[in-house]
Amino acid sequence: MPRDAWSNPSAVSAEDAARMAAFLEDRAACPDQILVNTALRDALAPRPGERIVEVGCGSGALCRLVVPHLLPDGEILGLDVAPDMIAAARALAGRQAGLRFEVGAGEALPAEDATCDAFFAARLLLHVADPLRVVGEMARVVKPGGRVVLMDWDWETVVVTHPDRELTRRLLHWRCDHHGGNNWSGRRLLGYALAAGLRDLTVIPVTSVALDEAAALTGSMFRAAEVARDGGAITPVEHDAWTGELRQQLAEGRFLASITYFIVRGERANGNRANYGPEIRRFVIR
Ligand SMILES: C[S@@+](CC[C@H](N)C(=O)[O-])C[C@H]1O[C@@H](n2cnc3c(N)ncnc32)[C@H](O)[C@@H]1O
Repeated sequence: MPRDAWSNPSAVSAEDAARMAAFLEDRAACPDQILVNTALRDALAPRPGERIVEVGCGSGALCRLVVPHLLPDGEILGLDVAPDMIAAARALAGRQAGLRFEVGAGEALPAEDATCDAFFAARLLLHVADPLRVVGEMARVVKPGGRVVLMDWDWETVVVTHPDRELTRRLLHWRCDHHGGNNWSGRRLLGYALAAGLRDLTVIPVTSVALDEAAALTGSMFRAAEVARDGGAITPVEHDAWTGELRQQLAEGRFLASITYFIVRGERANGNRANYGPEIRRFVIR
C-alpha cells in the first residue's frame, strides 16, 4: 500500500477503495465532522441556480450536503481521481437531482476558463503532490467574482487528555509527520490561495472537540497509536498503556481531544489577473 493511500484510493485495490468510501461516509455522519462540514458549506454560501464543483469529492458526502441549496436549477459536480470513489458516490447519490460525479484530476480540470460559480476542496490538498497547481486550476476555472473554498485540518493542533506528556507528544508528532499526507496543510491554505491570485480572503478556524466515541476524532486517536506503534515510534507496551488510559477516560466520561481545521475562502477578481497586487487583498480572521 502506498504511504498515503488517499492520493488515489483506486491505485490500492478495489476492496480497499470500497472500505475507504465507507470510512468517508461513516466519518461524515459523526457530530464533530458535521460541525466542520457545515462550516465549510456556510463559507461556500451556495445559492439556487449556481454551478459548483468539488475537487476530490470521495464518496460525495459534501456534495450531498451542498446540493439542496442549489436547487431547483443549479448543479454540483463532484470530481475525483479515483474511479472507485466516483462509482461509490454515484451509487450513494441515486437519482437525487442536481448531482453529477465524474473522474478527474485536480491538477488538470476538464473545464474551460471562467465557467463555474464556485469551487471547493475538503481534506484534499494534504494528499496531493502539488497543491498550488490544484488551487491554480480552481482559480482558472471559477468565474470572475466566484468563490474558491479550501479546507484541511492541521494535525499539529491536536490536543488529548493523556497524562504522559512525553509519550503523547512522541506518538502525536509521529502521526503528524509520517502518516497520511501533509498534516500541516491547514496552515498552508492561505498561502496557496494567495499564490493562486485569489482576493478578499477569509480565514475561518474551526475547532472540533471529541468527548466520546461518537466523534470521528476519538477513533483517530486510537488509529494514531496504532500507526505510531507499527512505525516503531512507540513500543507495543507503550501503545497498550496509552490506549488503555484513553479507554479508561472514555469509560469515566473525562476524555477530551480536539483538532483545528482551517477554512480559507477567496474570490477570483473581476478583471485582469495579471494586475493583482497585495494591496487589493483583504484578510478577515473570524
Ligand atoms: C480524504 S478524501 C476526502 C473526500 C471528501 N472531500 C471529504 O471531505 O469527505 C480525498 C479524496 O481526494 C481524492 N484525490 C486525491 N488526489 C486527487 C487529485 N489530485 N485530484 C482529484 N482527486 C484527488 C481521493 O481519491 C479521495 O477520494
